[in-house]
Amino acid sequence: MIVIIGCNKGGAAKTTTAINIAVALANQGKDVCLVDADAQRSSSRWYAEREENKLKPQITLIEKRDNISQTLKLLNEKFDVVLVDVAGRNSKELITGGTVADMIIAPHQCSQLDLDTLTELQIQVDAIRNLNPNLKVYCYQTMATTNPILRDKERNEFLEFVSEFEDFEILKSIAHYRKVYRDVMSDGRSVVETNNELAKNEVLSLMKEVF
Ligand SMILES: Nc1ncnc2c1ncn2[C@@H]1O[C@H](COP(=O)(O)OP(=O)(O)OP(=O)(O)O)[C@@H](O)[C@H]1O
Ligand SMILES: [Mg+2]
Repeated sequence: MIVIIGCNKGGAAKTTTAINIAVALANQGKDVCLVDADAQRSSSRWYAEREENKLKPQITLIEKRDNISQTLKLLNEKFDVVLVDVAGRNSKELITGGTVADMIIAPHQCSQLDLDTLTELQIQVDAIRNLNPNLKVYCYQTMATTNPILRDKERNEFLEFVSEFEDFEILKSIAHYRKVYRDVMSDGRSVVETNNELAKNEVLSLMKEVF
């Protein structure tokens, strides 16, 4: 299975989503390959820390840029799940990867600047589906507020906006803004390896919904 974590906005939590799912899948016994397709190398740096700290379960990391479709197809023969972390903003990797992927998980914050980029994603998905008609596209709300007074209103705004795009499925799972998501990045861990049950359950809920 090939899963692209991609959207057209920088800082939407693509890498965070990719690394957390990668570890959660490996914990379930899946042979996981994480493909860092972003020249910023955030996943690769996270992975280097994981190697340094000798953390288990092990996952495989491969760096590949530009046209990644052939590489993804080959990796898909060897691994149970191939997860791809792409760069924000109209990346060639999102397009070429999308043509061979089973799904795109598109993280977005509920902010006008993030949601404005959905139009661009729609155009890309329209083009990709000419080659890959079965591609699923899931919109995943990230860095949602934990403020009890604001959370329902924010969620409703997100649902209202995204539901205008009929080609995207909106995930029920949400990643709220929690400091632990930042903390684990620097030591090569996933939130599922911490004792923060709230963050852990968010990742497990995403897994259950998508895989
Ligand atoms: N749920 C969350 N709660 C708190 N901080 C978060 C959360 N998700 C991501 N972050 C933080 O937000 C920042 C951006 O996240 P991340 O690097 O995953 O985004 P990205 O989409 O991969 O960015 P880029 O486009 O630069 O690759 C990081 O500092 C990350 O630790
Ligand atoms: Mg990133």
